[in-house]
Amino acid sequence: MRGMANLPIPTSDIPLLPVLIAPHARLRAKARAVGKGDEDAVRAIIPRMFATMYTAPGIGLAAPQVDLGLRLLIVDLMPNDKPAPFTMINPEIVALSPELATREEGCLSLPGMYADVTRPARVKVRYLDETGARKELEAENLLSACVQHEIDHLDGVLFVDYLSILKRNMIMRKLAKEQKLKK
Ligand code: NI
Repeated sequence: MRGMANLPIPTSDIPLLPVLIAPHARLRAKARAVGKGDEDAVRAIIPRMFATMYTAPGIGLAAPQVDLGLRLLIVDLMPNDKPAPFTMINPEIVALSPELATREEGCLSLPGMYADVTRPARVKVRYLDETGARKELEAENLLSACVQHEIDHLDGVLFVDYLSILKRNMIMRKLAKEQKLKK
């Protein structure tokens, strides 16, 4: 998810990763679970994902956005401009609140595009952290929206999928036009 007021952290000489831009087909693929044999790839990409996210700046990034089809995501809302990083491997939503909340979302794969998205207000997620330890997180507010947004990426879902077809098409056309101008 795109950040708005975050300060980018100096990420020195970690090479950044190119972020796939919608409507790239691989943003629509379902990522597979991280398993045995993926440890090296995961360990290598996590610092590069953080460097890429902080530089953007963003508050969340999922592995498929950097063209790695694994169920891995990172989040850092930088509360009070201090790092508070989460790494989630094979995250699973175990509960969603019946109450909904609407907030503006953006995405590093849809640069410059924002729209109000309505989702369950609270989420409970189980995942493995970067050390392989089992974790559970109950989130509300921005963290809840961000975690749901990033987990969606693992299933090939983008925030524009929650909008009306009319609004989605408008955003996709605008994005295509701006990307064309950038080339
Ligand atoms: Ni996103």
